[in-house]
Amino acid sequence: MDVFEPIVLTSGLFLHNRLIKAAMEENMANEVQQPGSDIFNLYTAWAKGEMGAIITGNVMVDPQAMTGPGGIALHANSELAPFTEWAKLSKKHGVKIIMQINHPGRQTYRSLGGKTIAPSSTPLELGKHSSMFSQPETMSETDIQDVISRFAITAKKAEEAGFDGVQIHAAHGYLLSQFLSPLVNKRQDKWGGKIVNRSRLLIEIVCSVKKAVSTRFSISVKLNSADFQRGGFDITDAILVVQQLEKMDVDFVELSGGSYEAPAMQGRSADDRTLAREAYFLEFAKSIALQTTLKIMTTGGIKRLAVANQVRNEHIDLVGIASAMAYKPDLVRIWKTNAEALGFTPKVDWKNKTLAALATMALVRRQLQRLGRSKVPKQNASALFSLIQDRIRLAKLTKRYKKNVLGK
Ligand SMILES: Cc1cc2nc3c(=O)[nH]c(=O)nc-3n(C[C@H](O)[C@H](O)[C@H](O)COP(=O)(O)O)c2cc1C
Repeated sequence: MDVFEPIVLTSGLFLHNRLIKAAMEENMANEVQQPGSDIFNLYTAWAKGEMGAIITGNVMVDPQAMTGPGGIALHANSELAPFTEWAKLSKKHGVKIIMQINHPGRQTYRSLGGKTIAPSSTPLELGKHSSMFSQPETMSETDIQDVISRFAITAKKAEEAGFDGVQIHAAHGYLLSQFLSPLVNKRQDKWGGKIVNRSRLLIEIVCSVKKAVSTRFSISVKLNSADFQRGGFDITDAILVVQQLEKMDVDFVELSGGSYEAPAMQGRSADDRTLAREAYFLEFAKSIALQTTLKIMTTGGIKRLAVANQVRNEHIDLVGIASAMAYKPDLVRIWKTNAEALGFTPKVDWKNKTLAALATMALVRRQLQRLGRSKVPKQNASALFSLIQDRIRLAKLTKRYKKNVLGK
């Protein structure tokens, strides 16, 4: 099996090949949380990359609840023109563009001062770094219905703007992943308890998104294969959720893992389970793929074509690549003529796991910013310097966000 073989998804969406640029939050929005020139430059670079599809960094469904101060939000009152421009230039060379849509739930920085809601009031546990995050409020039924309708509105507007599909983010410890996790979701109503209840919000959101868009619009879901925390969402839960999604005819499920508390998506496991050095979630994806007819994608640790083909040979339909595409936006195009070309991903092996995870993100984000200024990415950037620079930049963006969006 070959990653360069084309594929037609259930919605009818045609992809030239199976290599997908996975979501990376850019934190590069303009002053009103919309895509602007930096985002356009970055996506112009990716558009020439010849991958099957680009999945955007997560776009927020509620501007009051952001994963970061430079994030993009698309909601009922958003002006559509910048999003139309974003979709148009991303598709210029035939690559498909899928918008990832998300709500952070309790994974919102306290400094942002927005609205922090979650299935239950369980705060994030990050040892001495826990105070970086707000204490969440338990969601009321009204909050739940509001979130469902927001996902549908954002998806509808994404289609109007010319995107080929949306990916609903239900992984990495954000709101939908919080509902799925028995460690975070302590509810005793129909939204908590057994997995059919914990998955209800995700399923209702998929339903309402389906109603809001045309049948030709691609809908996919990013899901954890496991949370990598004892007592958390596990592979048995993941299989049941994938089987529910199979009945709903979504185009594919992207399997990842972890959360801010246990950043398995960076190859770090908090419950002592070993993840592969490359293609971290392949073993999980293989087991899940055996239990479903749904198309499966997996992302995490892939930077060599041989590994991408190994994933494909295990009957995984789509191969996701994130960090390596920040360092080489044209990696897929390079692989077409040089199969041995190595992608680059940063590794930060500091003792303090939280800081190491933040520094890894900072290093990658710095490359996105360089591409946004039409500069070449830098493989030898210092982790410490990037982390400090990232924190200063985020502090400035936080001030801007509070003033412009929250009016504080
Ligand atoms: C800077 C950065 C931002 C990210 N933002 C998102 C995001 O918005 N949504 C998402 O699902 N995953 C996000 N991720 C995770 C990636 O999609 C991917 O799952 C993870 O980085 C592992 O893949 P990789 O080893 O190819 O980087 C982000 C990763 C990085 C490095």
